[in-house]
Formats: sequence, structure tokens, C-alpha cells
Amino acid sequence: MELKMQSLPAFKLVVWTLLTLVSLHFGSGAKCGTNSPTVKQTQVGFNNPPKFMVEVQNNCPMCPVINIHVKCGSFSKALVNPKLFKVLAFNDCVVNGGLPLGPLQKLSFNYSHQKYLMYPTTWYFQCE
Ligand SMILES: *[C@@H]1O[C@H](CO)[C@@H](O)[C@H](O)[C@H]1NC(C)=O
Repeated sequence: MELKMQSLPAFKLVVWTLLTLVSLHFGSGAKCGTNSPTVKQTQVGFNNPPKFMVEVQNNCPMCPVINIHVKCGSFSKALVNPKLFKVLAFNDCVVNGGLPLGPLQKLSFNYSHQKYLMYPTTWYFQCE
């Protein structure tokens, strides 16, 4: 019986936590749909090395997005201001220091190097 008395609050906590996580998840998903952030690259310089313009966009019309991590290969930290795009590790770069991009907001920077393939891996929508 002792066991039952002790485990009940813990069980409630687990259920409450799960419900909260699930509702947060659906709250974000419902407002942003499939509007994941995108990383677009356009070649703007044709010398050697070539120059690329990178545009990271929050495509959600309703909510800010935070903590956008990008798969970035061996991107060199010397190529761009880390406030915009910070190299954390191989294949792990973070956009805007993890700070929010507003709904439909775009962040852009250029780098001069052979092209690095980049695409977003994780992010969080901050929906109400
Ligand atoms: C990137 O390069 C393009 C083309 O040269 C230029 O129009 C744009 O202003 C540059 N962007 C930044 C953030 O320097």
C-alpha cells in the first residue's frame, strides 16, 4: 500500500508532463503547419573562390522560430560573423545565435568559398 501512495503523485506528474508536451507540440504544429525554416543559397560571385548568398527564412507566418541548427559540413568559422551563423561543431551551425527570427523573417549573409551544402536540422517554433 505504501508503494501505491507514493507512486500515484509520480504517475500524475508523468501524465501531466506528457499532456503538456503533446499540447505544446500540436500547438506549434497547428500554427506553422509544414512551414519549416529553409536555407537557400544563391551564387552571387563567380571568381575563385566563388561567393554564395545564404538566406535563412522562417516560413511560419504565425510564430517566431528559435534555435535553428543547420547541417553545415566543415564550414569555416572565419567566413562569417558568428552572431549570424556560428559554427559549433562539424555539421552543426546555429543561426542568429539561437535567437528568434520573427514570422516570415529572413536572415542573410554571404561567404566566399567552395559551396558548402547546408540544410536545417532542428528548430523550435515559439507559438503562444
Ligand atoms: C551578398 O552579396 C550580394 C551580391 O553581391 C549583395 O547584393 C548583398 O548585399 C550581400 N549581402 C550581404 C549580407 O552582405
